[in-house]
Amino acid sequence: MSILQVNKLKKSFDQLQVLKQISFDVDKNDVIAVIGPSGSGKSTMLRSLIHLEEIDGGSIAVHDEFLVNEGIYSSPKQIKQITSRMGMVFQHFNLSPI
Ligand SMILES: Nc1ncnc2c1ncn2[C@@H]1O[C@H](COP(=O)(O)OP(=O)(O)OP(=O)(O)O)[C@@H](O)[C@H]1O
Ligand SMILES: [Mg+2]
Repeated sequence: MSILQVNKLKKSFDQLQVLKQISFDVDKNDVIAVIGPSGSGKSTMLRSLIHLEEIDGGSIAVHDEFLVNEGIYSSPKQIKQITSRMGMVFQHFNLSPI
């Protein structure tokens, strides 16, 4: 059973199309590596999964519950419920230069 389903995810920053119809599933116990050149959209994709970016189209479902379904986001309450169970270690995770 998939715990994460991503379908045709699209995201642009103004004219720059970063994510062009990205689709993949993650099953229980999968360990996934996302690889690609700098600027190819890896962080943007991850940020989208936890709703730090709003996507322009496509679907994201966690445990069969839609965060966003064909570009339509679930209610703020549902979004919070879904994303509160997800985490991300930021690329530049230090908040202070020390
Ligand atoms: N908030 C933003 N506003 C405008 N452009 C952005 C924004 N965030 C990312 N971008 C652009 O989107 C593209 C993808 O960036 P992203 O950080 O997702 O790439 P990446 O694959 O994580 O790169 P790296 O390997 O360097 O971490 C880049 O061209 C970046 O400049
Ligand atoms: Mg990155």
